[in-house]
Amino acid sequence: MSKLSKNFQKVTQVKRWTENLFSFRITRPQSFKFRSGEFVMIGLLDSDDKPILRAYSICSPSWSEELEFYSIIVKDGPLTSKLKNIKIGDEIIMMPKSTGTLVLDALKPGKRLFLLSSGTGFAPFAALIRETETYEKFENIIVTHTCRVMSELSYSQSIIQECKNDKLVKEFINNKLLSYHSTTRDDYIFNGRITELISSNKLFRDLKISSISSDDRFMFCGSMALNNDLKKIMLEKNFREGANNNPGEFVLEKAFVD
Ligand code: A2P
Repeated sequence: MSKLSKNFQKVTQVKRWTENLFSFRITRPQSFKFRSGEFVMIGLLDSDDKPILRAYSICSPSWSEELEFYSIIVKDGPLTSKLKNIKIGDEIIMMPKSTGTLVLDALKPGKRLFLLSSGTGFAPFAALIRETETYEKFENIIVTHTCRVMSELSYSQSIIQECKNDKLVKEFINNKLLSYHSTTRDDYIFNGRITELISSNKLFRDLKISSISSDDRFMFCGSMALNNDLKKIMLEKNFREGANNNPGEFVLEKAFVD
């Protein structure tokens, strides 16, 4: 407990998006530096004062004063069944080092950047679409979010709305951001898994943009199955997976809390 005490941060906001999805903000220690798209270990103490820590992508861009996280409530999950009850003023643990592969440094220069997500996998992209460097490096950014039902899209829709309305963010986005939402289990404007929408070219037709070309770059974040299927599509198109020390054409990370 004493070793961890310097790692406690105060909760400053909690928002509930659906019965099972919520976001929250905590204070950002001055010493904490991170790159947009990275994740960090956060958590709470259990009844024996032992820390329960899980990896969470930071939804806030690197310039943010506070840190936002987006979480699903896992049934009987040791952390989220406690975390779901947090309120403003409570304290949570945040470890001091962030890491991750969904960072701009892990991609080779390109023209368009596709950020493909499902479920809570939208979190790292909430940071990257509000990061100035993203728009300096790419001519267009296309962010997609697919969920089972419409109500699960509300967090990503609200972040994208903020990108369009916030004076500062709007200025550096400069009309370079396109967004696409789809659902797979109810009726919505767009329906279907992202893998099918790409393979059938429907995504590109709906957005009125050209289909995949060699100077496109990709990041994806979702379930293991989604990541594997998207990776297969990427490899078939002769794209190579990148890493921090060896940039490539695509990078992926599993959405942690599921
Ligand atoms: P589906 O409803 O057809 O399973 P989950 O909550 O299970 O992680 O799913 C989030 C979204 O990701 C759902 O819309 C789901 O579609 C979709 N999905 C699940 N598995 C895959 C996959 N292998 N490839 C593409 N999309 C997937």
